Amino acid sequence: MWRIGDWGMTVEQRVTFIEQCLALGVTSFDHADIYGNYSAEGLFGAALQAQPSLRDRIQLVTKCGIKLVSPARPQHAIQHYDTSAEHIVASAEESLRQLQTDRVDLLLIHRPDPLMDFDDVAEAFTRLRGAGKVLHVGVSNFSRHQFESLNRRVALVTNQVEFSPLHTAPLFDETFDGLHDLGVAPMIWSPLAGGRLFTAADARAETLRHVIKEIADRIHQPFASVVFAWIMQLPSKPLPLTGSGRIEAIAVAVAGTTFTLSRADWFAILRAARGHEVA
Ligand SMILES: NC(=O)c1ccc[n+]([C@@H]2O[C@H](COP(=O)([O-])OP(=O)(O)OC[C@H]3O[C@@H](n4cnc5c(N)ncnc54)[C@H](OP(=O)(O)O)[C@@H]3O)[C@@H](O)[C@H]2O)c1
Repeated sequence: MWRIGDWGMTVEQRVTFIEQCLALGVTSFDHADIYGNYSAEGLFGAALQAQPSLRDRIQLVTKCGIKLVSPARPQHAIQHYDTSAEHIVASAEESLRQLQTDRVDLLLIHRPDPLMDFDDVAEAFTRLRGAGKVLHVGVSNFSRHQFESLNRRVALVTNQVEFSPLHTAPLFDETFDGLHDLGVAPMIWSPLAGGRLFTAADARAETLRHVIKEIADRIHQPFASVVFAWIMQLPSKPLPLTGSGRIEAIAVAVAGTTFTLSRADWFAILRAARGHEVA
């Protein structure tokens, strides 16, 4: 829902969009306090207020821990992180107000904070869960070591990380291996590289597009479905988010759940992504 403010939808159109997602089996909606300069949660919350029956049919994810310089937060003099227990609790409570709900299904720490004290974060998470304001907790953009350090103090249900054929680092920096070992599914942001998979003009992206398109045409699937299938085929069972506001594009993402790629095709995409063969 990062981009919800760009979609120019009325409240009624947002309600319809959520209902269309539900009809496709897409029930989880990813937010952060800061999206849309602190306005995205409120746009979604207005739709929930207009159609309250939606709330029990969806899962709400939100994040906290980044403080943006923004007209909406004039007290912020510099962009910084705040993972103090006090800020985590206050931010979650503000998200509940914006989303017009009494609980979020999942609260994430948005980015690892150099000043983060794992015990403080665990205490805030435990307090919010105890109060029923947050049902599950997790993190985003954490290294394997950061994830495991916090996970020893409070059970985390995901690490939401960037991954796409244009950003393959989590395959090789232990992020996915570590989560797989713990039986924790990563969530994936920018699975289509924020749209750059379609638009980037450099040679590597051109080759990658050509390889994905050849596979897509041969197996009679849309281009983006192949990318989603490529991501979801990993044994850590990643859960990709899609950033599109077009219901047709979301249907194409969902179609990626209906087939798997041969190992040869999976590795052809990896080879094009990295620019070299595996050893
Ligand atoms: N945890 C974090 O740090 C973090 C960071 C960034 C994002 N996120 C989350 O991840 C979500 C997804 O990220 P993202 O928006 O960058 O994801 P994405 O799905 O990789 O990119 C979506 C963008 O690609 C465009 N696009 C172009 N052609 C498309 C096609 N055929 N199918 C689908 N999209 C196409 C979309 O435009 P159209 O709308 O015109 O389709 C949209 O602007 C965000 O909404 C946010 O909730 C989390």
